[in-house]
Amino acid sequence: MSEPVPDLFDKIVNLSKRRGIVFPSAEIYGGFRSAYDYGPVGVLMLRNVKEAWWRSMVQLRSDVVGIDASILSPPAIWEASGHLANFTDPLVDCRHCGARHRQDKLDDPDTCPTCGTTGQFTEPRHFNLMFKTHAGPVEDEGAVAYLRPETAQGMFINFANVINTSRKKPPLGIAQIGKSFRNEITPGNFVFRTREFEQMELEFFVPPDEAEQWYDYWCKERFQWYVEHGIDESQLRLRPHDDDELSHYSAATSDVEFLFPWGWDELEGIANRGSFDLEQHMAHSGQKLEYYDQATNERYVPHVIEPAAGATRTMMAFLMAAYHDEIVNDETRTVLRLHHRIAPFKAAVLPLSKKPELTGPARELVTELQAHWMVEYDETQAIGRRYRRQDEIGTPFCITYDFDSLEDKAVTIRERDSMDQVRLPIAEVAAWLAERLV
Ligand code: GAP
Repeated sequence: MSEPVPDLFDKIVNLSKRRGIVFPSAEIYGGFRSAYDYGPVGVLMLRNVKEAWWRSMVQLRSDVVGIDASILSPPAIWEASGHLANFTDPLVDCRHCGARHRQDKLDDPDTCPTCGTTGQFTEPRHFNLMFKTHAGPVEDEGAVAYLRPETAQGMFINFANVINTSRKKPPLGIAQIGKSFRNEITPGNFVFRTREFEQMELEFFVPPDEAEQWYDYWCKERFQWYVEHGIDESQLRLRPHDDDELSHYSAATSDVEFLFPWGWDELEGIANRGSFDLEQHMAHSGQKLEYYDQATNERYVPHVIEPAAGATRTMMAFLMAAYHDEIVNDETRTVLRLHHRIAPFKAAVLPLSKKPELTGPARELVTELQAHWMVEYDETQAIGRRYRRQDEIGTPFCITYDFDSLEDKAVTIRERDSMDQVRLPIAEVAAWLAERLV
């Protein structure tokens, strides 16, 4: 296990701002609490997180298909799912300082963590976390719509559509990546808990008697996904929920947790939801959401195993796990040891000088490599500083075009983690990278 980095949280927030990973939203208007914008580097990383999930969960499997469902949704969905009645947090106000808190997250349920006053909380109010809006010009009850608080319901309400059109049978998963919205009472810890975030969810529909085995399968599979993408096992754990934490319909739930600077916290929940969701939508919509197995002449309501992850939260964990400060030649080098698949840029081309005889061919090499990967080009500042800049955003390979390159038609490639350098003919660079990049 690597040594914990002191002040890691602040370092990640600063690096994110400095290097165009994540900006506080609406900064020029004084900011908008708990909303964030992903910058030129961050947008690439977030896309890579989602792409890596999609690759593992959809592309490499024959038993999962994807969908992209609407964010705006009618109340009927949330009535059936139970969100209108139950998707609430207990909200308390401190009468002394006016601060608002989630009662279930307080260390001491009687003491305000903002001002330290005891016994001054209001009675808890059940605050629904869904964002309510109106579809169309008339703001009456008939026009009420919600921004989805999870992507999951999109899969349940499309179960019959997918089964009827995909020519597949359970075990069958429906996967989706997309934005979800929750009016969190206490957003915070940077992008860990925000009101607008992205989820990556799979609803895996199985014959009822296979639910337990698939639950075990997905717990292992999902834990391993984070390890495969560069998080050390010592920073991860799979924590089964205690009975009093389980939702009433859940037979079992486990969270994949990451060791954040404030302690263990959730990256993803894997739940055995039984047939609850399909039964609810059948009851409320009057539609049949069953599977008819022609081979056995059996009709059943599939059970669902749901691995539900957050893309933005996962990106934050990848940043934290990859961050290293190390001393090189008496100077601190900050490096993000990101998995190649997650790294925003796969390579950077750096001409040694701004002279056109170097920048011209260097740009030609960029054009060639850009056909395959996201590649940076940087001709500013001293070469050492440019290397550091790429280290800070986790670029695996830096390619230097120098004056010798004009003669020997070769470039120097420096690897991010070892800082080892090799000299390679320019004509071989693309193939060399393709061999090494995951
Ligand atoms: N369909 C089940 C579901 O939505 P969840 O545990 O509420 O389950 C799944 O959410 C994942 O979505 C969480 O593990 C977390 O990674 C992410 N998530 C939930 N609320 C979030 C928030 N306010 N900000 C960022 N990510 C969030």
